[in-house]
Amino acid sequence: MKPSLQHPLIKNNILSTVGHTPLISLSRLFPEVEVDLFGKFESLNPAGSIKDRTALQLISHAMETGELQQGDTVIESSSGNMAIGLAQACIFNHLKLIVVVDPNINLSTVKILKAYGARIEQVSEPAEEGGYLEARLQRVHALLEETENSFWPNQYKNPQNPIAHYQTMHEISMALHGQLDYLFVATSTCGTLMGCAEYIKEHALPTKLVAVDAVGSVIFGGEPKKRLLQGHGAGKPSQFLDKSVVHDVIKVDDKECVEGCRELLNREAMFCGGSSGGVVSACKKYLPSLPKGSRCALLLGDRGERYLDTIYNPEWVAKHITCQPS
Ligand SMILES: Cc1ncc(COP(=O)(O)O)c(C=O)c1O
Repeated sequence: MKPSLQHPLIKNNILSTVGHTPLISLSRLFPEVEVDLFGKFESLNPAGSIKDRTALQLISHAMETGELQQGDTVIESSSGNMAIGLAQACIFNHLKLIVVVDPNINLSTVKILKAYGARIEQVSEPAEEGGYLEARLQRVHALLEETENSFWPNQYKNPQNPIAHYQTMHEISMALHGQLDYLFVATSTCGTLMGCAEYIKEHALPTKLVAVDAVGSVIFGGEPKKRLLQGHGAGKPSQFLDKSVVHDVIKVDDKECVEGCRELLNREAMFCGGSSGGVVSACKKYLPSLPKGSRCALLLGDRGERYLDTIYNPEWVAKHITCQPS
């Protein structure tokens, strides 16, 4: 019989490597300011983003409760990281996946999803009311009806979404022995934000939450406006958000996300996506108001590779960002 191999670097399977991402000291990012900065590097999740955690929690919970079984079909509307996180959890668990997307999906995400074996259903026209989001949801409902043994994780409403991020905050808190003054979190469903908030409350931590939202997102109010970068922001209010747990909200536009990405890459050699850039820019705006010696952590949500055609493509930036009136 083979001796069983046990070592912290040996993992049971790929899904057991989701989470436990490193917290990296960002000492070069803003050296002129006397604060302690850390980045939670979620790119190191196996499918590349913080949404690996959410997807795994939603799928594992549904399998544990019997709502979902091997061979079933998962159907979800998402055109980004959640879809990729689901694709990973589904292929591992022998589940079929249909992702409903709209024409704004980027080509590299389509290629990644296809590689994982997901079926892609693209809506071509926005709904008369509610735009592409509504059109995608209508298609999800139609597919659920016509597909036997199908399951909709519904990341916007499923309580397992924030539950996934209780663990995210646990990891940060353990690494810093509970000593964290500010946590900067990009928001979309607000699952991350609210999961961290729950942990902070239960453990009576001193951490204040700073939510980072997109200009043109409606999460914290305001009119919806066109946004070019995926990840953070939403065109409809969050079902999870409790504004009373949020210390402050900072809105960032696409240009600030691009600038933040460049700063992270040039100063820390960290190649991250748009919401990470947004969090960096939000933190930069906020730093002057912080007491000296404050300790801050930034949730850095995904990898730069997904934005090679946009944020990291100088022609795209020149066309869509630099020339855009700010
Ligand atoms: C890279 C990235 N950062 C942040 C978020 C926001 O996370 P949440 O939906 O938990 O608010 C997302 C959501 O898709 C994301 O993809």
